[in-house]
Amino acid sequence: MSKIVVIGSSNTDLIAKVKKFPKAGETIKGVSYLQAMGGKGANQAVAAHRLGGTVKFVTSLGKDTNGLNSLEYYKEEGLDVSLSLIVEDTSSGIAMIWVDEKGENSIVIISGANEMLSAGYIREIEKEILEADLIVLQMEIPYDTVKVICDLAYENKKQILLNVAPARKLDEDIIKKIDILIVNETEAEIVSGEIIEHIGEDGIVDKLLALGVKTVVLTLGKQGCIVKNDQIYLQIPAFSVETVDTTAAGDTFCGALAAELSKGRSWHETLEFASAAAAICVTRMGAQPSIPTETEVRNFLKMKTTNH
Ligand code: RIB
Ligand code: NA
Repeated sequence: MSKIVVIGSSNTDLIAKVKKFPKAGETIKGVSYLQAMGGKGANQAVAAHRLGGTVKFVTSLGKDTNGLNSLEYYKEEGLDVSLSLIVEDTSSGIAMIWVDEKGENSIVIISGANEMLSAGYIREIEKEILEADLIVLQMEIPYDTVKVICDLAYENKKQILLNVAPARKLDEDIIKKIDILIVNETEAEIVSGEIIEHIGEDGIVDKLLALGVKTVVLTLGKQGCIVKNDQIYLQIPAFSVETVDTTAAGDTFCGALAAELSKGRSWHETLEFASAAAAICVTRMGAQPSIPTETEVRNFLKMKTTNH
């Protein structure tokens, strides 16, 4: 089994369940409140770990209650955070999240210590990072740090999985170094700079591949997901479930995908497993509290096959 290192953000999520999102200038009463662990990096690391991967998580937290609690929580979870940073005089990352009745969310992040995960620090721990086979990245840490990690991984022939969330345009020479790019439709438009007209063959996926990425995984929400590289083209449908909160569904998908690939599974098995994990995640509130274990996902898949 190959080793995974996730390098990315960690946040404390302050979540308000609301009937409808408030308009500018409006005060509304929420339905319920939950404080829980989140951050795209942390969610993906926790997902990959709970779903059977061998994972190291590199993040940066402040020396405050949220930061110290987070670190404790990851350790209890069994996640290896030995390469993570605690920085003085900076607050840990916070995310303010509203979740409406349909389970859709709207998120504001205050990066705090996540901004201190510097390119310089990556150079300091590069030997340890290179012990992994698959490096998983998102975009909630400085872009310069992401670039340095991509260069490092490329020079040393390590696989890079990049989930371009929150989305931004990527430098051409960086995008060529990506082995697996995971994007949803909005992110695909921002990365490619093109409006989506078609999704499949000759569509947005091919536009992304033409930029030099080896494998593109496009997630389409209720329409499922697509994977394409020079050997395969596969689309699988999503599982239909009752949506409570979509927060971290994308992260759970990415973490699950990394875990399955690290076990040497086929793309078909990997996508099915990752979709099932994301489906379970949307039936529950919060980011990390909603990420399932490997057993839960296997049972869910068994149940779905029996039902068919
Ligand atoms: O992708 C979901 C995550 O985005 C939340 O956990 C929040 O912390 C933000 O980073
Ligand atoms: Na969720």
